Amino acid sequence: MQQAFAISTPNPGPSAPAAQPDQAALIARIKRMLVEQNAVLIAHYYTAPELQELADETGGHVSDSLDMARFGHEHAAKTLIVAGVRFMGETAKILNPEKRVLMIDSAATCSLDEDCPVDAFTAFCDAHPDRTVVVYANTSAAVKARADWVVTSSIAVKVAAHLHAQGKKIIWAPDKHLGHYVQQVTGADMLLWDGSCIVHNQFKAQLLAEMKRAHPQAGVLVHPESPAGVIDLADVVGSTTALIKAAKDLPNTTFIVATDNGIFHKMQEAAPGKTFLEAPTAGVGATCKSCAHCPWMAMNDLEKLAQVLESGANEIHIDEAIRQKAIISIQRMLDFAQSSQQTVLGKGNA
Ligand code: 13P
Ligand code: SF4
Repeated sequence: MQQAFAISTPNPGPSAPAAQPDQAALIARIKRMLVEQNAVLIAHYYTAPELQELADETGGHVSDSLDMARFGHEHAAKTLIVAGVRFMGETAKILNPEKRVLMIDSAATCSLDEDCPVDAFTAFCDAHPDRTVVVYANTSAAVKARADWVVTSSIAVKVAAHLHAQGKKIIWAPDKHLGHYVQQVTGADMLLWDGSCIVHNQFKAQLLAEMKRAHPQAGVLVHPESPAGVIDLADVVGSTTALIKAAKDLPNTTFIVATDNGIFHKMQEAAPGKTFLEAPTAGVGATCKSCAHCPWMAMNDLEKLAQVLESGANEIHIDEAIRQKAIISIQRMLDFAQSSQQTVLGKGNA
C-alpha cells in the first residue's frame, strides 16, 4: 500500500551501483559490440542508471526526446540503439533512413501513442480543416505524417506561441494535460485530443499540496504531462532537461519531483547533495499503478541490449511514403528549435 505522502525515495546517488563481475563482463561485451558495429547508444532520462552510464561512457547520449532526435541525426554512427520507447526509435529512423535503428525492446510503447490511433486521428483532423495540426513526439510515424508540426515538451510552448502569433488555430494531440497547459500559457486557440500519460496522470494535486506544507522549503518540479492541479502547484514546469537544470540552478536543497523517477539519476548527478522526493501518485489506500515509473521505459536493460547487438533484432522499419511525410513535421520542429536557439527556463517555458 502506498503512503499518503511520497514514497520516501532514497537518492540513487550519482552513480549506478558498482557492476558485479557478471555485469562488468556484460558491459565490456556490449562496449566491444558497439565499437565493432559502429553503433551509438542514445538513452532517455527515464531509463535505468546503468544504461544511462553506459551511453555516457561510450560517447552516446542521455537526454530528453527532442535532444535524442537531434543527437541521433547529427551523429556519424551507422547504427543507433535507442534506450527508450518506440516513438523515439521511429523518430530516429524517420530522420535517418540510411541508418540502422534498433530498439532494446520493441514492445516498449507509450500510452500517449496508444491513445491516438491514426484512423480516428485523421478523421478528427479532416473534420477541422481550418486548424494547424500539432502533435507531440509521443505518437506513431503515421500520426506524425498527418501533422503539420511535431513538438516535444521542451518546445511545445514556443511553437504554439509562434502559431498563435500568426493567427493560426490549432489541433493538439494527444496529451490533453500538456495541451491545456500550453493553451493557458500562450492563449492559443487549441482543440485538444483526449490522451494522457499513465505515469504523469497519477500525480495527485491534493496530496502534493499536503506534501508541500510538510516540506515548505522544497522546490516543486513538474513535467507538463501532469494534470492541471499538479502543474498549478509547481515552481518550475518543464521538459525533463528543464527540470534537471532547475534542480541544479535553483537554491533549494530539497525538491518534490512530479515526473518519472528515472530522472533522479541525472538530477542527483547534476545537483549532488540535494534531496529529491517523489510527488505522490495515489490517494490513501489506493493501488499504485505506475508508482511514478514508466513500465515501458523499464523494459530496457543491459541483457536485452547485448542480445539486440548480437542478433540485430528489433530494427525499426517505416513505410517510405509515411516517412517522407513525417519527416516534414519533425524537421520543422528541429529547424524551429535551432532558429529560436532553444533554451530551457522555468515556469511557462516548458
Ligand atoms: P521529454 O521530451 O521531456 O523527455 O518527455 C518525454 C516523455 O515521454 C515524458 O514522459
Ligand atoms: Fe509515454 Fe508517459 Fe512513458 Fe513518457 S512516461 S513514455 S509519456 S507512458
